[in-house]
Amino acid sequence: MSHEKLETNVGLMAILIAIVISFGGLAEIVPLMYQAETIKPLPGVKPYAALELAGRDIYVREGCYNCHSQMIRTLRFETERYGHYSLAGESVYDRPFQWGSKRTGPDLARVGGRYSDDWHRVHLNNPRDVVPESNMPGYPWLSKNSLNAEEIIGRMHALKTLGDPYTDADFAGAAEQVSNKTEQDALIAFLQGLGKHAPKGE
Ligand code: HEC
Repeated sequence: MSHEKLETNVGLMAILIAIVISFGGLAEIVPLMYQAETIKPLPGVKPYAALELAGRDIYVREGCYNCHSQMIRTLRFETERYGHYSLAGESVYDRPFQWGSKRTGPDLARVGGRYSDDWHRVHLNNPRDVVPESNMPGYPWLSKNSLNAEEIIGRMHALKTLGDPYTDADFAGAAEQVSNKTEQDALIAFLQGLGKHAPKGE
């Protein structure tokens, strides 16, 4: 009887449907508000150390993401070329993440350890010295610019405010880590760390 009333009254039915859906929504959304993180970092993944963080910011400043993604897809030809596909737990401390999809150059998510630091130096100064057919621009000024420790520590504090678990030891060691280092050193440290904590194999 009462159900018939409901089925013949569109307005009432719409209101009740809205109520039912909002309960469903609340059941999914509210628990997330009490959770510090939805994605757990993979074992070993920590907030970027001072030097790597500086390098990451240079990567973003120079627009490397315009030609390089850091996101290996779950496709066979990708994992055979680059290694294990990317996992969300690798980039929990990437703000903003550098996944991207534009690939003028190769994906860099697993480039850490593939080349020596010296290779990267030559390559960043003038890519054609090591890869003759390369159309990547050179970034020779990076080896001439030095880093500003105070500024980098400031950025670490900002990230800590957002929830990145930096420790007192991270802050204490930061200035020494970046002293006498160039922007090129920082960028290479960042590149050499890419994929470090990825699962091995496919
Ligand atoms: C105009 C597009 C372009 C931009 C911008 C660019 N690259 Fe490249 N990059 C390439 C291409 C093409 C290659 C492949 C040829 C080569 O190795 O030089 C490459 C290769 C690389 C490699 C070697 C990857 C591998 O697996 O062999 C690294 C590392 C790299 N780029 C880092 C960078 C960094 C860091 C920046 C920013 C400072 C940058 N690239 C900006 C196009 C670009």
